[in-house]
Order: sequence, then structure tokens, then C-alpha cells
Amino acid sequence: MQDRHGHRISYLRVSITDRCNERCTYCMPQKLQEWLPREEILTYEETLRLTRIAADLGVSKIRITGGEPLTRRGVVDLVRQISQLSGLRDIGLSTNGTLLARETSPEVTMAAALRDAGVRSVNISLDTLDRHVYSQITGRDMHLQALSGIDSAIAAGFDQIKLNAVLMRGRNEDQLIPLIQFAAARNLILRFIEMMPVSTNEVLDENNFMSILEAKRVVESHFGGLIPEPGFRTNGPATYYKVPGRQQRIGFIGAMTNLHFCESCNKLRLTCDGKLRPCLGSYLEFDIMKPLRAGASDNELKQFFLDVVDRKPEQHDFRNNYKPNRKMVAIGG
Ligand code: 5AD
Ligand code: SF4
Repeated sequence: MQDRHGHRISYLRVSITDRCNERCTYCMPQKLQEWLPREEILTYEETLRLTRIAADLGVSKIRITGGEPLTRRGVVDLVRQISQLSGLRDIGLSTNGTLLARETSPEVTMAAALRDAGVRSVNISLDTLDRHVYSQITGRDMHLQALSGIDSAIAAGFDQIKLNAVLMRGRNEDQLIPLIQFAAARNLILRFIEMMPVSTNEVLDENNFMSILEAKRVVESHFGGLIPEPGFRTNGPATYYKVPGRQQRIGFIGAMTNLHFCESCNKLRLTCDGKLRPCLGSYLEFDIMKPLRAGASDNELKQFFLDVVDRKPEQHDFRNNYKPNRKMVAIGG
């Protein structure tokens, strides 16, 4: 699939739930919110069918997201079924990590079960090594669970584990170096992410926004000049660098300040309530659940995908005073 701007779509992010066991300030509104009722969420059968259709159209990478995807029952079986679809070469998962260490059967962690079911790469959110600050950011005192989740992921032997830290001035700007040391000690890729206006509350303003340029400055004043690695790409818009004198790789995701951010975008998003979103930072979304539940054929659904891709914008709208129309937690990163 290719859009009008030359983006080739090979990556589908699939949100399987709007629920989460944490309440990150940049993602979720703090006030009590209603979860979507079960019948408004795609069943696993429906998700699997849409994933198969996407794979038939050339999508080769799937990422399971949420909310927190591990809060939904049966996720291991869903992954197992997705991994059997032909055409897919990579299944990833984005998680806050807090449930990865939980045992799904005696002596088998959630992380190991997911690995066995076919997940190859895991992205785990970790914004700070300070338990108290972690609780402030996530609204939950689950730092220890997140850390043991990371240990379980390492033990499970995924092909790739990345740690994601959202940059927040005054909250974790003193954590950049400790996070780099933490990642180095475990041989994990760490990425710093600029905060995007994707939540309903007003967390993003000049007082708490920190750009990747500033983050890079902090890192370089400690380690010396970072060595660009233009050849290294994962599947997203991060730019990667080597820490001088080390094998360690760190990434920067500058959705707000990098003007070339969208050029190589290869993504499409499926929300848990059955909307296809051609871009995270655009109001556009198209309800594929409706034709799906009205009995559309595979060919009709394929055409729906192609029509959505055809409407993919050239770039996101985050710099144009973008006001989110739904919360991040329901879009899935
Ligand atoms: N800005 C940037 N990143 C965000 N994430 C969630 N909300 C935001 C936001 N407003 C990140 C999480 C997680 C990934 C799924 O998305 O930290 O790593
Ligand atoms: Fe939950 Fe992730 Fe959103 Fe935090 S960022 S509230 S862990 S979905």
C-alpha cells in the first residue's frame, strides 16, 4: 500500500484495549473516566480478520498496543494466532511492563508466554528510576512491578527490547543519564520521546515540554558527542546514536521538533473500537467496525484499507495547535 505522498505502509499498530492499570499524566485524563463497553471493542476474531487483511495488503509488522494490552485477557492466544498469518515477519508489543513478570502458569511469566506465542520485540515505558517520581507520573506505585517486568522480558529472550522515556521538564530531566546507565547495564536500547499533545488534559505546555535537542545536549555534556547512526533503523521515526566509547545505542523521537519526522512514515493504526487512523497526529479516523459488522467481504474491507491509506496526510498536525480529539490511551501510541 502506498499513499499520495510516497509513504509505503508496512506497519499496523493494533490497540486491543482502552484500559490501563496506570494513569500517566501525558496519556490519560486524571479524572475518573469511563471505559468503553465490551461490545464497542473489536473481538479478537475481528481484530485477527482485519490483521490478516492488512497482511494480505503488504503489512509485514504488527505492534500490539493499548491502553495497556496486557490487561486484556487472552492476549497470548491472540498473538499466537497473529503469528500464524502469512506475510508477517515481526510482531511487537508496547507495554508499561507492570504485568510482564506475572505468572500465567506455574513458573511461566507473561513475558515468556508472549515470547513463546511469537512476540519478537517489546517496547517498555520507563520514564524514571525514582520510585516516587514514577508514582507521580503514572499515578500508580508500580515501579517495582515495572522493573521486574523488564527483568522478565530480558529473561524471556526477546529479539529486541526497547525502553521508552517520555521527556518531561522538571519531572525526569535529571533522569536521562541514570536511564542511559540502566539501559547500558542491561544491554537495552533506550529512546527519549518528545511529549505529544495526544491526551485530553493540558499537560503539554512550555513549562513541561523538553525537546530532543535539549535532551541530546544534556547527554552530550556528560558523555561527549553522540555518534549518529543513520544506517540503523528499527521500524519507526527514531534517530539513533551510539554513546561514545560504548556499544550502547540510544534513540530520540522528536515528533514535535523534527520537521522530517513524517517523511518515512510507514504506519497505520487500528483503534480498539474499530477505527482506522492514518496518522496519530490528525483528526482523521475511519470506522471499519461498521462495515465489518455489517457483513462486508474481505475485498470490501481491503478497499476500505486502501481508501484510508489514500487519505493519509503528508505530515501530522501537532505543530498547528493540535487539540486531541480522543485520548492517547484509546489510540495506542
Ligand atoms: N507523548 C509522547 N509519548 C507518549 N506515550 C504515551 N503518551 C504520550 C505522549 N503524550 C508513549 C508511552 C509509551 C508509548 C506507547 O507511547 O510512554 O512508551
Ligand atoms: Fe497506561 Fe501507557 Fe498510557 Fe501510561 S502511557 S497511562 S502506562 S497506556
